[in-house]
Amino acid sequence: MSDSLLTESSLDLGRLRQAIQEAYAAVARDPGRGYHFHTGRPLASMLGYHDDWLEGLPEGSISSFAGTGNPFRIGQLQPGERVVDIGSGAGIDSLIAAKMVGPDGQVIGVDMTRAMLAHGEKECSRSRGRQCRVPRRLGRVVTHP
Ligand SMILES: C[S@@+](CC[C@H](N)C(=O)[O-])C[C@H]1O[C@@H](n2cnc3c(N)ncnc32)[C@H](O)[C@@H]1O
Repeated sequence: MSDSLLTESSLDLGRLRQAIQEAYAAVARDPGRGYHFHTGRPLASMLGYHDDWLEGLPEGSISSFAGTGNPFRIGQLQPGERVVDIGSGAGIDSLIAAKMVGPDGQVIGVDMTRAMLAHGEKECSRSRGRQCRVPRRLGRVVTHP
């Protein structure tokens, strides 16, 4: 493979971003379709998510979980901590984080895929807001502090 294929200038970032959004919108709409990556509870189990972390979370959000790693492997959050979940997707990590930080902590989810945010919101309202007190915002994170 030539080096030029790997340089940023050869990438069409707009198309790449659109392809990512389309893939995650598809997972939000149809989590069981089958993708080139794992999803849902089987994925959570592969990544070492504890069953009790998922307890009480909306089943429809768990099905659309498409995480690429387990951020809690490096340690669990402490009560009162503040968390920004960048690329929050269906919101499973945000919801788990909210359980860990408790009522004195704060979690906010940010995602650039409107369909994922909408799906997470819908699943939370269907579950009558149980364990769903996490605000979510549409936004594309370009740089971070
Ligand atoms: C692997 S999923 C996240 C899964 C999520 N942690 C969960 O608990 O379900 C990745 C998400 O990151 C979002 N994303 C990717 N790049 C982003 C960026 N630069 N800014 C905001 N969201 C982004 C995608 O739209 C997608 O919903």
